[in-house]
Order: sequence, then C-alpha cells, then structure tokens
Amino acid sequence: MSDRIENVLHENRRFPPSDAFRADARLSSEDGYARMHRESIEDPESFWGRVAGELPWIQPFDKVLDWSEAPRAKWFVGGKINASAVCLDQHLESIRSGKRAIVWEGEPGDTRTLTYTELHTEVCRFANILKSRGIKKGDRVAIYMPMIPELAMAVLACARIGAIHSVVFGGFSAQALSDRIEDGECCAVITADGGWRRGKILELKKEVDAGVAGKDYVHTVLVVRRTENDVDWDHERDIWYHEALLKVDAECPPEPMDSEDVLFLLYTSGSTGKPKGIVHSTAGYLVGAYMTTQFVFDLQDEDVYWCTADVGWITGHSYIVYGPLANGATCVMYEGAPNTPHPGRFWEIVQRHEVSVFYTAPTAIRAFMKWGDEHVEKHDLSSLRLLGTVGESINPEAWMWYHQKIGGERCPIVDTWWQTETGSIAITPLPGVTTTKPGSATRPFFGIDAAVLDEDGNELGANEGGLLAIRKPWPSMLRGIWGDEERFRETYWSKWPGYYFPGDGARKDEDGYLWILGRVDDVINVSGHRLSTMEVESALVSHESVVEAAVVGRPDDLTGQAIVAFVTPAAGISASDELLRALSEHVSTEIGKLARPAEVRFTDALPKTRSGKIMRRLLRDIAAGVETVQDTSTIEDYAVLAKLRNYDD
Ligand code: WT7
Repeated sequence: MSDRIENVLHENRRFPPSDAFRADARLSSEDGYARMHRESIEDPESFWGRVAGELPWIQPFDKVLDWSEAPRAKWFVGGKINASAVCLDQHLESIRSGKRAIVWEGEPGDTRTLTYTELHTEVCRFANILKSRGIKKGDRVAIYMPMIPELAMAVLACARIGAIHSVVFGGFSAQALSDRIEDGECCAVITADGGWRRGKILELKKEVDAGVAGKDYVHTVLVVRRTENDVDWDHERDIWYHEALLKVDAECPPEPMDSEDVLFLLYTSGSTGKPKGIVHSTAGYLVGAYMTTQFVFDLQDEDVYWCTADVGWITGHSYIVYGPLANGATCVMYEGAPNTPHPGRFWEIVQRHEVSVFYTAPTAIRAFMKWGDEHVEKHDLSSLRLLGTVGESINPEAWMWYHQKIGGERCPIVDTWWQTETGSIAITPLPGVTTTKPGSATRPFFGIDAAVLDEDGNELGANEGGLLAIRKPWPSMLRGIWGDEERFRETYWSKWPGYYFPGDGARKDEDGYLWILGRVDDVINVSGHRLSTMEVESALVSHESVVEAAVVGRPDDLTGQAIVAFVTPAAGISASDELLRALSEHVSTEIGKLARPAEVRFTDALPKTRSGKIMRRLLRDIAAGVETVQDTSTIEDYAVLAKLRNYDD
C-alpha cells in the first residue's frame, strides 16, 4: 500500500462563526480553544480529571489514566459509576426533572414524549423485566429494534443493571444478527414485532426467530409490540414487553460499575474476516460522549437537538442516547425514512418540534439535494442554529447546499470525523470558534493528538497526503475487539509503536486543518456505513452460481461509494439478468440491503498477483472508468486486465 494519497480538492471558501452565534456560544475564542487543547495534550490527567468530575460518581476515581499496559488504556481507575444514572437519575433532582428527554415521532405520524422523570421510570421497569429473566451484570444482550423510544430504554436498562448491550442495526439480515449474537454469546435478544420503513412493516421478530435458531444459550427474546403483525411464538423463550411490564415495579437502583467495566459492544466491518465487536468502557466512553456533545453541539438548555442516525450505529449510541442525555438535552427521535410520506419529512419534523441543532450524514444531504429544494422551502427552518455532519467527507457542493438551503447561511456546520472505535467525535470544528472550510473536519478535539504520518511514522508536511494517526490515548477510545486481543493490536496498534492507526488517509493544510481522504484499506463506505469488501465477497461466493468475486467501491454522487462486484460464474452458468437479480437478493439476505452491489460485472477471471491475491486497486480504477496509472508489475496475467477494461465494448 502506498502511504501517500492523492489530493485533488482545492477549496478556498472560509466561513467564520457569526458574531450573533459567538455571543452566546460556550466557547468563542481561538485562544480559549488553543489553551484548552494544549492543556488536554500536555496535562491530560488534570484536564480529564476536571471534566470527569462533572459527572455523578458512585465512588470517585483515584487515578485519571493508566497507560502502563498500552494499548490497553485504563481511565478513571478505581471509580464507580453507572451510565443510566448519569443519563437519568442526576437530572431528577434538578430543574430538568420535568424537561422533555425524548420527543419521538413514528413513521406513520404517531408521537410520544417522555420527560426525564418518565424516562427514568420506564428504564427502571425495563431493567426489572431483564432482571426477572435472570439477566445480570456482564451478560451480553443483543438489541435489534426499530427507532422507537423502547430502543433507548433497552440500551439504558442494560446499562442500569450492568448487562453489556450489543445493538444490531434493524436493517441487518437474520444472518448478520446471528453472527453477532454468536460472537458475543448473547443470552437474550430485545426486539419488536416489526418497525415501519417506507410505509411497510420490517418484520424484525421473524428475523430474530431465524437468527437465534439452534442457539440454546439465548434463553430470552423480549418483544415490544409496535406494528401488530402476526408473529410466531416460543412460549419458553419469548415474552411480550407490555405483558411483562405489568409484573414489575419502578424501583431499580443502578448497578455500581467499575470505570473500565464494558458498557457495550458494537460490531463494525473490518477489511478482512468477520465483523469486529468493538468494546467500549463505561466511564471513559461517557466522559467522551458527554464532553463532545456539550462543546461540538454547543448545547444549551433550551436546545431541541436532533441526530438523525439510527441507534444501531455508534452515532446513535453517542449522540442520541449517552451524550445528549448525560447533558440533560431534549432529543428528537424519528422512526422512519426521510422521504415518507413525502421528501420533506425531515423538514416538517424540524418545523414541528422547533429543532435547533441538527446532525445528519452527507449521504442524506445528497439525497435531499436530488429530491429538490421545493421540499425544503415549504417548511420553516428558522429554529435551526447549528448543523452537523458525520460518516464520510462531505463534498464542498453538498456543504454549500446544506449551509444555504438548510442553515439559511446563519448556522455554523460542524463536520465531525470519528469512528466506532474512537467512541466520540475526534476531529471537528468548534462552532463558536472555528472558521470552517467546506470539506474539512478542521482540527482535533480536546485530548486528540492527531497527526498525518507516513508508513514509518514521520510527520508529513503541509498538504502532503498520508495516514492519519492519533498519538495519545483518549478517554472514549476502544478497549479492544471482543474475544480477539491479537486482532485489536494488529489492526490499530501495529503500524507505529504506541500510536493509534484509524485506517484513514488525511492531509493537513497550511492552517493545520485536517482533510480526511477516505479509507486506506479495502473497506467500502456506502452512505456513511463501512462495509468490508471481504464480507460482500463472501456473501457472493456463498451463492451456488459463483466461484469467485471481488468487490470494490466506485465513487457515487448519492451514497459516497457504490459497490461494484466482479463475479466469475461457476462452470456452465452464464451471465444473465436473472442471475444478477438472484445475486442481489442473496447479498441482501446474507448481509442486508445496504450491501447489494450497484453493479455486477461478470468475468471469467480476476486480476491477481502471483501469490494469488486479487488486485482490488486495479479493479477500483476499472469500476470508476479511469485509466490505471498504478503499478501493474506484480500482475499475473495482463490479458485479464485488458479484457476487463474492454468490458463495455
Ligand atoms: C469511518 C468510520 C462515526 C460515525 C459514522 C461512521 C469515515 C466518519 C467522517 C468525516 C470524513 C469520515 C472515516 C472513518 N468518516 N466521519 N466527518 N469526514 N470521513 O462510523 O462506521 O465507524 O466509520 O467513517 O473513514 O474512519 P464508522
């Protein structure tokens, strides 16, 4: 792999925060940022000790950071804390007790609002249901649900009793769910009969039935009634949430958890092999989610905050559940698709609930651009004061549209770079401080010592594309890969001694701003979701008509990258539209709709190195329709390459 990455983007526009925004911002001076960032890097113990001191501890910590067993960081050593108490109980004694915690809207238009007091009661009862099934501290619980308030409750109920939650995105297939349940050895699954998506019912319970089949260790499937479709029932294993609720009370003291106890697992794709169960700790994770939410979104008590992600991704964990609730914010939560029943649904929600802080993904922004400005213009968006994006680099064109059409040219945009592994936002503008440049995530957050290095760990000069690195531990960093210490060290800590390798390319410009250049490995990012080529290939190859497959990403205006699959059919099978459809369907069942190839090209051979490795970088050029300028000296058979290039002829 070459460590230099081509940089083709030249962007000269600058957007300083307005005086009006700065007047009320939490942080509004360059000096303030510089001072805090310097302290966070030079004296992390006093910096983070102070921040952590703002959280309600059951027992105070006696050491801020122990990095002696790097890369296994221990933060806030000796402390005891409970994440659900941080999100709920602490607000009950304050003026926030009657404040709205969750303002929810279902896709069909039904609504539910929960105050902090009400959410606390519901979470305690939910936790007591889990306890009544014998679920206890340290047990793993899979959560596979639609975006309904019970999803947030399920997460917090696990945290309350110290069970480790493993949320699996509701759009994943039974097979993907099964793999994740198995890897985490989950003893229970929390789900719903179904969820609403584009006016149709997503039958979640049915997927769970298939996903837990043959797994005796799954003793409980707890089912929330949402869509009222018929479901199969195992009387030993399955229980209805609404029935179980009648048998429990609302008294459930939070379990005191060690700072380093695992709060949750969340699976993310790797470049090779099976998905990685990213392990997050309790206290460090909370401190990161708490502080970033406060400073990046400049959260004020009057804000109505809406992050449009699904709780099935890390964005939803940190910026729908833990971060906002730890800060006592009012959060909007929406179940359905952005274009149901009409392409202005998001803007209708913003208007109805007077959303002031709005956080979404570039892929969504590009979809809105495509659907047309008239759907935006019909709605009053004057309540908005701050916008955010996450998931992939936002192209300047989309940034400008977001700024003008959604932000009315008055809202700062925070382009936040981070990962499932970082736990919380790591590179970002601070809205009252940073002059933004469209397409740049700008500068590191407090505690993040970000640099652009070459393969040997040398820091590169201004505007030289290289590899992003984080050179110091930070509180919300991952603590491991579930059950695979070796892979944890190898994936993140083996490139340079003691430095974290996120796997992204980046460059730093002359002002010290960071520009993220995308993944340097074979992972494909579709609509802000990383997919491993390896997983999609495995799915294709598991189809009887396929002998070999190579999958690459090609640039796509809408989804960032789109999947192109090069497929070699089995002997006697010929390429046909029917096969194409069958493969698409197959990938959908194996992984999920998200992973369906946008294009399948049938070929009788794939370009390989002499040792038999598929040369994906060549395929990437072919898929994108550009002339290969890459090194082809290791290719085994030039004829294969020539044939693939002439595919359209
Ligand atoms: C990868 C992490 C963190 C939640 C969403 C995805 C890419 C994320 C940005 C951004 C450029 C970004 C990176 C990163 N990414 N945010 N603002 N600018 N790239 O979480 O699935 O863990 O993916 O998403 O490539 O490594 P994830």
